[in-house]
Amino acid sequence: VGPSVAEVVASRLRDIPDFPKPGVLFKDFTPLLADGEAFATVVRDVATRHTGSVDVVVGIEARGFILAAAVAFDLGIGMVPVRKSGKLPGLTLSRSYALEYGTAEIEVHADSFRAGERVLVIDDVLATGGTAAAACELVESAGAVVAGVDVVLELGFLEGRDKLGERPVHAILTV
Ligand code: PRP
Repeated sequence: VGPSVAEVVASRLRDIPDFPKPGVLFKDFTPLLADGEAFATVVRDVATRHTGSVDVVVGIEARGFILAAAVAFDLGIGMVPVRKSGKLPGLTLSRSYALEYGTAEIEVHADSFRAGERVLVIDDVLATGGTAAAACELVESAGAVVAGVDVVLELGFLEGRDKLGERPVHAILTV
C-alpha cells in the first residue's frame, strides 16, 4: 500500500520560521499544490468524503479558494467565496472575529445560498478557529446549513475545533 493522505500532506508541508512575524512557525502548503499527484490526492480525499451530501462548497480567502475550487469542480457543484471585507461587489453579510491582536472581518454575498442548502466549508489551516467559525456563522445567517468544515491541517494545540461547536470538522492532518 502507498502512503496515507495524512502522510502525503505531512511530506509536502514546509515549515517557515518567523513568518509572518517573529516567533511564528508558518506551515507552507505550496509544495503540496506544486505536486500534481499530491494535490489531486488531497482534493479527491475531501471530495470523496462529501460526494452526494453537499450542495455547494465555500472557500475561505485566500488559500481556501485553491482547494475549494478544485473540490467543487471534482464534485460537479458550485463554489462560493468568503472574502476579506471590501472585496465582494454585491450586497454582503459580514462577520468580525478576534485575531491575536485586534479583529478581522470576512464577508459573503447575501444571495449566495438557497434556504437549507448543505454547505461544505473549506480552508487550508484551522488554527484558533476564528476564521472558520465566522465563515460558518455567515453561511448560517444566509439561511444555509454547514454540512462540514474540512481543512488540510489542524493546529490541535490551538483548540480551534472548540469554536465550531457541533459542526462536523475534518482535518487530513492534525499536529
Ligand atoms: C489563515 C488560514 C486560515 C486562517 C486560520 O489565513 O488560511 O484562513 O488563517 O486561522 P484561525 O483559525 O486562527 O482563524 P490568513 O488570515 O493568513 O489569510 P490569507 O489566506 O488570505 O493569507
